[in-house]
Amino acid sequence: MLFIFSFLLVPFTHAVISGDLNCTSYNGTAFVYTPAAVACSNAISDASCAVLYPAPNTDYPAAGNDAERAYACYTTATATPAAVVQDIKTAALANCAKTCGLCCQTDDYSCPNVAYPRLNCATITTSQCNSVAWRTIIATDCPSACGFCNQGGCVDAVTNCANDLSICNTVGMQDFVNTYCQKTCGRCPSTTASSSGSTASSGTCTSYAADSSSSCAAWAANGFCTNTFYTAAQRKARCATTCKLC
Ligand SMILES: *[C@@H]1O[C@H](CO)[C@@H](O)[C@H](O)[C@H]1NC(C)=O
Ligand SMILES: *[C@@H]1O[C@H](CO)[C@@H](O)[C@H](O)[C@H]1NC(C)=O
Repeated sequence: MLFIFSFLLVPFTHAVISGDLNCTSYNGTAFVYTPAAVACSNAISDASCAVLYPAPNTDYPAAGNDAERAYACYTTATATPAAVVQDIKTAALANCAKTCGLCCQTDDYSCPNVAYPRLNCATITTSQCNSVAWRTIIATDCPSACGFCNQGGCVDAVTNCANDLSICNTVGMQDFVNTYCQKTCGRCPSTTASSSGSTASSGTCTSYAADSSSSCAAWAANGFCTNTFYTAAQRKARCATTCKLC
């Protein structure tokens, strides 16, 4: 009897990540971290995070691996099954989101993607997030994949435009900045960059459902409320109060 039980339990004791499966996906045989799980930076040094959130089995979370998440990232328990304790997780998200493999739940990585993205948002890699060719498409279609949630769909295609702001006004640089420095030089189409967030949808509401995200003010300032790349249902589900959607 004992033999049968331990035999049945084997697959489960080998299933790692455990407890909190956010920022993971099933690859056919195991739960593995998504690229967005580790795409951000820790707020404090990586070395400090390694002390606060030591890897239970030497491996730290990385895209595609199934390293066990440090207990301190999400629970007060010291063995599985470990229930998620939200206080503990909030602290981990604020300080060591990357070491914990929880980047996808930070504000910059936690927003709806468009209803019909032109590419598969779930498989976007870090090199795509930094690629001149990909960044502007990703910012519009899959902002959560690269931490573009608070950018309102508008990013620079190259990452160092702000090194020299004078290029925005240099005559011979206009074709360049219109293509590569849209955010820094204010060249994004107004539908994604600067439409006001506070348009009321109709005069019939007297109250709205609560926002489900704490970032609605920032998103609204970036045009989220009126951005038709998101379905009305997605906008309402996230920011009904801020966007005045009922
Ligand atoms: C994801 O995180 C939330 C909140 O921290 C938690 O309640 C939930 O159980 C987690 N989901 C999974 C699949 O682990
Ligand atoms: C899924 O991930 C596990 C753990 O990283 C790995 O051993 C396995 O080969 C992967 N399976 C597939 C189908 O990619």
